[in-house]
This record gives sequence, C-alpha cells and structure tokens, in this order.
Amino acid sequence: MSDTTIPTSTTTTIVDLFDSMAYGPAPESAAPARDWLAAHGPHLGLYIGGEWRAPSSGEYFPSVNPATGQPLIEVAQAASDDVDAAVAAARAAFPAWSATPGHVRARYLYALARQIQKHSRLLAVLESLDNGKPIRETRDIDIPLVARHFYHHAGWAQLLADELPDMRSLGVVGQIIPWNFPLLMLSWKIAPALATGNTVVLKPAEFTSITAVAFAEIVQSIGLPPGVVNIITGDGRTGELIVNHPDVDKIAFTGSTDVGRAIRRATAGTGKRLSLELGGKSPFVVFDDADLDSVVEGVVDAIWFNQGQVCCAGSRLLVQETIADALLAKLRARMEKLRVGDPLDKAVDIGAIIAPVQLEKIQRLVAQGVAEGAHCWQPSWSCPTDGYFYPPTLFTEVAPSSTIAQVEIFGPVLVSMTFRTPAEAVALANNTAYGLAASVWSENVNLALDVARKIQAGTLWVNSTNLFDAASGFGGYRESGFGREGGREGLNEYLQPAWESAHTDATETAGTPDEHVAAVREKPLAANGHTRTARRASAAAPHAAPTGDSAHANGHANAAAIYDGGIVIPPIDRTPKLFIGGKQVRPDSGYSRLILDAAGQPLGEVGEGNRKDIRNAVEAAHAALPGWSATTGHARAQILYYIAENLSGRAAELAARITAQTGRPDADTEVERSVERLFTYAAWADKYDGAVHSTLMRGITLAIHEPVGVLGLICPTEYPLLGFVSLVAPAVAMGNAVVAVPSASHPLSATDFYSILETSDVPAGVVNIITGPCDTLAKVLAEHDDVGGIWSFSSPDTSRLVELASAGNMKRTWAPPHPRDWLDSRQGAGHEFLREATQVKNIWVPVGE
Ligand code: NAI
Repeated sequence: MSDTTIPTSTTTTIVDLFDSMAYGPAPESAAPARDWLAAHGPHLGLYIGGEWRAPSSGEYFPSVNPATGQPLIEVAQAASDDVDAAVAAARAAFPAWSATPGHVRARYLYALARQIQKHSRLLAVLESLDNGKPIRETRDIDIPLVARHFYHHAGWAQLLADELPDMRSLGVVGQIIPWNFPLLMLSWKIAPALATGNTVVLKPAEFTSITAVAFAEIVQSIGLPPGVVNIITGDGRTGELIVNHPDVDKIAFTGSTDVGRAIRRATAGTGKRLSLELGGKSPFVVFDDADLDSVVEGVVDAIWFNQGQVCCAGSRLLVQETIADALLAKLRARMEKLRVGDPLDKAVDIGAIIAPVQLEKIQRLVAQGVAEGAHCWQPSWSCPTDGYFYPPTLFTEVAPSSTIAQVEIFGPVLVSMTFRTPAEAVALANNTAYGLAASVWSENVNLALDVARKIQAGTLWVNSTNLFDAASGFGGYRESGFGREGGREGLNEYLQPAWESAHTDATETAGTPDEHVAAVREKPLAANGHTRTARRASAAAPHAAPTGDSAHANGHANAAAIYDGGIVIPPIDRTPKLFIGGKQVRPDSGYSRLILDAAGQPLGEVGEGNRKDIRNAVEAAHAALPGWSATTGHARAQILYYIAENLSGRAAELAARITAQTGRPDADTEVERSVERLFTYAAWADKYDGAVHSTLMRGITLAIHEPVGVLGLICPTEYPLLGFVSLVAPAVAMGNAVVAVPSASHPLSATDFYSILETSDVPAGVVNIITGPCDTLAKVLAEHDDVGGIWSFSSPDTSRLVELASAGNMKRTWAPPHPRDWLDSRQGAGHEFLREATQVKNIWVPVGE
C-alpha cells in the first residue's frame, strides 16, 4: 500500500501529520447496500413485462466484488424463452408507448431521474461494490450523470414532436452494455430510447448486473407501463439471443470491437438498425507550451480514471520532445502518490480491476510491451493482494507500431511517445485503427483547435479530458464504431423518417397476434418489395449484367448507323470508360458489358470495372479528399450549381437516354428532379451547421459536422440519373470524395455525367465512377480499409453483402431496408442524407484563466 497511508501508532502527533500529509481512512459505509443485497438475495430475477421472474434455465451465476473476490449475489442467466418473453413484452408495449404524448413520456423520464437522485448513494455504493471503481467516481461522476441523462432526455421527450416532427419511433430496441460504467451506460441507452418512444430489452454485462436490476425496481416503482423497459441478465449467450431475435428493430451495443464486429455480421441484411460504441486507443497530445501541472492531473484523469477501463481512456501520451523529460519526471512523482485500494475508501484514487480475466489480459499485454523492448515503470509501492488490483504503469521508449501502442489494454497502463512538430503529432495521433476521443494540451488556442480538427475522433477535449454530458453526442470514427449517444445527434439513432415507419406499421397493424408475429418475423421480407423491384428491373434487361465471358467485343454503343448517300457507314464506337481521378480510363479487365434497352435490345456498352479499378478510384478519391474537404461550403455550392446548370442544358438528351434504358415515361421529371436535387445540396453545402451544446462544462462544446472521408455509393437500380445524383450530391456537398457504382442495368446516365463533371470545375478525384457488376464492386468497396463509409441502395442482397463485408474495419454503412420513391424529395433528399454524409466531432474547450 502507499507510503502515504496514515500510521496506526497512537504516538502520531499533529506535527507528524503535517510532515507526512498522510490520508486517514475515509470509508463509505457499505451497510445499506449490503442490506439491499441481503433483502434481494440470494438470486436476482429478470424484469419482463413489468414482472419479476426466474430464468427459464433455472441457472444463476455469482456477481463478485472485484476488491475482495467475494460473491455479492447470484444473477440470472436468461435463456431463449426469457429473451422471447422480453421481446414480446416490449413489442406489445410499443404501440401504446410510441403513441404516448411527449409530455407524458417526459413525466416518466423525469420520475426516473428523480428516483435516481433520491437513491443516488445506494446506487453509488452498489456500483462500487460490484464494479470495483472508487466511490468518489460513482458518487460524483457516474450516478449524477445517470440522473442528468434522464433529465436531459425528459426534455427531448417534451420537445420531440415540435423539434423533429417528421420522425417516428423505431420499435423494439435491444441494448447490450459493458461492465465499465454499468448504470451510466444503461442510462445512455435507455433514456434516448424511451424519449423517442421505443421500447427496450436491455442486458447489462455479466460482471455488473446489480445496478441494472436496481434500476428495474425504480422503473417498476414509478409505474412505467409494463413492457416498456425489460431488463434481462446473462452473459454473451443472452446478448447473442437478443441480437439474433427477429422481432428486434435495432441493436445498440457498447463493448469490445470483436463483439461489435460479430454483431455487425449477425445483423447484416436483416434490416435491423445498429449503433456500435467500441474500443479506442485515444491520444493525449501535449505541446511544449502546455501547463505541465495541469497536464499531469489530466493524465491521471485520462488513464487512471476507472482503472483505465474506459473506452476513451487517454492511453497514448504523445509529448513534444523538448518537454518529454520534464513531464515524465512530474508524472512519475505524481504516480508515487496515487493510492490504489478499497473502492469504498473516499481517499482512494484507483480501485480494483473488474475480474481476473481482465487482470490477466493487462498483465499479458504489459509483459508483451517489455518483451517488445519498451521501458516499463511502476511506483515503488505495491497493491493490495486480496482483490484484483493493478498499479498505475508507464511505458516509455515505445515504438508506434508496437502491440502496446496499438492494442486497447483497458487497464491503468499508459504508453508514452514523443513528436517534434504538430504535423508529426497529428500523424502519431491518427496512427491507430480507432477514433473515439483525443485530448490536446496547449496554451495556444489556434494550435490546439487546428490539431483538434485534424485528429480523427468523435470527441476532442482541449486542455481537459474525459468530460461527458447528456447534451453532447459521444461516439466514434473508424473502428471505434458508429452512431452517437447523447444530445440531439443521439436521438436520430432511435428514430426513422415518418414515411419509412409506414413500412413498419403496415406489418404491425393487421392480423391476429400470431399473424402479427409471423408478419414481423418476415420483416426482412418487407424489404422484398425492394428485392422484387430490383428483380423486375433486371428481368427487363436479362443480359444486363454479363460477366467477362458474356461481354461483347463488337460495340453496339451507337446502334443507329449513319447513312450517307445510301452508303451504310459503321457507327463510331463510343463505349464509355470508367471515370477515375478526373479522367476517363479503360477498365483494367479489358472487358465491356452490354447494356440493353427497355425492350431488351442492345443499347450500348460500358466498361466492366473490377477490384483494381476500385482500388485506383479509392486512391484517386483519397488524393482529392484533403483539398475537397477543406474547400469552403460556398465554393462547393458553386460547383454543384454549375453541375446543375450543365445538366439542365442537356436535359432533353439525358431524358431520352433514361427513356431508352428504362422505358419509363417520366424521364423529363427525373431530369428536372435531378437538377432540383443539385440545387438542394448546393443550398445545404454552406448551411448544414453544427451546434454549440449546453453541457455542464464551464466552456464551450462545439459539435462540428465533418465529412466521413471516402464514401462508396452503390446507386439505386431504378432511377439511373436521379438515383445517382441523389447519392453523389449530398456526399460531395458535405466534403466527401466518392466512388460511385451506378445502376448495373442502366449505367448510361451516370456515364453521360462524366462530361458534365469535366465541364463543371469538379476537382479530379472528387467523383469517381466505376461501372460493372454491382455486387462484386460493392464488396470490394466494403472491404477496402481506406473507405470510410458505404451506402447501398441497389438491392437487399447487395446490402447484406455490404454489411457483412464492412465488418472488417467497422466502416459506416447505410443500407436502408425499405425501397423509396426517389421522385419524392422527402424520401430522396434531406437531413437523412446529410447525416449519413457527415460525422459529428464534439470539441470541448474550457474557458477561464
Ligand atoms: P464484451 O464486448 O465481450 O462484452 C460487452 C457486452 O456484450 C456484455 O454485456 C456481454 O455479455 C455482451 N456480449 C458478449 N458477447 C456477445 C455476443 N456474441 N453477442 C452479443 N452480446 C455479447 O466485453 P468483455 O468481454 O466484457 O471485455 C473484453 C474486452 O473488451 C475488454 O478487455 C476490453 O478491452 C474491451 N471492452 C471495451 C469496452 C468499451 O467500452 N470500449 C467495454 C468493455 C470491454
């Protein structure tokens, strides 16, 4: 134990105390929490449909106090029947709850917040006992933020109908949370789900179920209608059952990247919405003009808060070379004074690690760091041995590519590296697959904000760290997952456009309960409308997707021959190539594909793109991205207007081409709508503003919309021009560079577009177009590590493939399950598209001297 512990000898004098400045014990009483456990033991039940029940398996497992290794109580292992019952209860409660007026929902959320405040100390102690985190943290951070989350979202319930009138609830939401912030993660999940009118089945982590059960009691005590919140406990098997349940409309998950990836794969193609908050390896960047004493306290907070078991822990300390020695010396001195021990002691800084398995993981990774040549430093004192404790640990001489610099350790282990210039700091900071959070420390506000903009992460703290609030969205870039929790941006994770909810309602209103379940189980089939549309389209053009061997060598591009004085002159071949990096280039495959008209007659040929072409296009897009994303919204708007102008000038020709391909009589309308859509996004280019959130911090929290990066766009089959424009325009308006795969059967409208792009000042590489086999190209895009997101609108089969393949680097996908009417601007344009084209970065800037 620390040498700063107060001596027990009765001879201690006041002078001794002033000399040592030692802490006395400051224990929080565990008695009320122990009484609660005794009253509820030996088994905790499942809360389903407003009632408590034993698990159908009859199985229970112990929840253990990590500070002692002693069991606290037994927790139920929910099995398949329990998950079915919980989902059925949530489904039954959904129609009434989603139709409940916002004010009434607000009253329930408000009641939850009040109850949490009124029982805050009990919840804080239970949390400390179950998780091992210091009482100072549960009492002062976790539980107050839980209450804050319910208050804040009571407000959103109140305002929802006015603020987001065109949005509707999703349905039944399955929520799976980790053990590091048990009740806080519960509140991050449940509060927005309830505020937006959804019903919930939540599973806490198996190590920390107690406060979720206590919360269920609060839910019951306030009279929340049965089935609106169902809490079921169990391990990963229970989680898997929730994820795979056919009657769940959305999964919200926080936890490890590996499980997130498995969930992405399990839900691919099902039409379930998904938000994932995964791991991180967040940089903590210190410039030479930073206030080093504040920095040291910041580091303590960044990596030793919650024993470092924090997804956004500042686990990589990046220090400007000139101050590295001074900072590390101060840090080691501070580490000597940190106190590890009983979480219920209010003078303890670092509590216990959650479980032996996590402790072993930390020990293994530390050993690996040493084996890989880094220097490991720990304070001179030793940890208590009766629980799962690990000392604060500092690694220096760390190679940026080493395991400990790349892998999320999820423990009190800090790795330190140095840099020389701001550019080097940014490169090091971004040298990770993750992108959850970062801290930047400098007294120079220009430098700090510049670096904050350049680091790829969802949350940036300037001269501060680990600040959270219900008013600000939290979530990741890159492999840290997608979706946001908190604030206005988090609400959208639990809402869908009103027109889209009509698809859900259609399956939910008709029929007997059995038929209802059957209809809902068939939900992916609801997307069959989409499948059927796609199949109809390809039936009209049976040879529209030839593979290499069926590709034609003799061009039909200009089937209409030219006659001159009765002499037949062969038509000039005009097979459009691919459009990469602003140039028309031949497909790598050397093949072309035949395109048929609506009557099944040859209409032309396009290049047969392949993997290599996609790679080249992604490279070109990346080259264009820094310039394009830095271009002002005004300049991007000018270019979109210019495209619209050039499109309009060729309206008749483009309409004729649409009719030739599709046989549809409304081609003029499609062209006109395409022009309108370009105007819409030219308008938005300089208007899709972020926000300044009203958080608890004394300072400003700036929510900034940033482009996702390189976006892959798999265009709809049906509207060859409008579908293409509806995806490309919002993406480029928001500063992304795109690789678009046009309609496989009607690609000629997109290839006609090359010349419009070439004459509209669109910088080379901003828009790249690869024609060819949709599925093959979509899969390559989805697997590509340098593609930030992918939109899939061609068919449910392609969407499934995209969602599956994207799990590799957890890229964002947008593959809506329902077909949409592209001519309708509510379905084919607007906020939904802008949101998908951007990611929100929250930058926290404290103010004051
Ligand atoms: P985990 O990701 O396995 O568990 C998180 C939640 O998912 C728990 O409720 C668990 O029961 C559930 N779960 C597990 N397997 C599932 C599956 N196949 N389908 C659905 N749900 C499933 O995390 P775990 O095992 O507790 O910790 C493993 C590592 O993950 C830690 O060492 C740490 O590095 C990391 N982790 C990261 C967290 C974060 O917030 N970024 C939180 C917790 C752990």
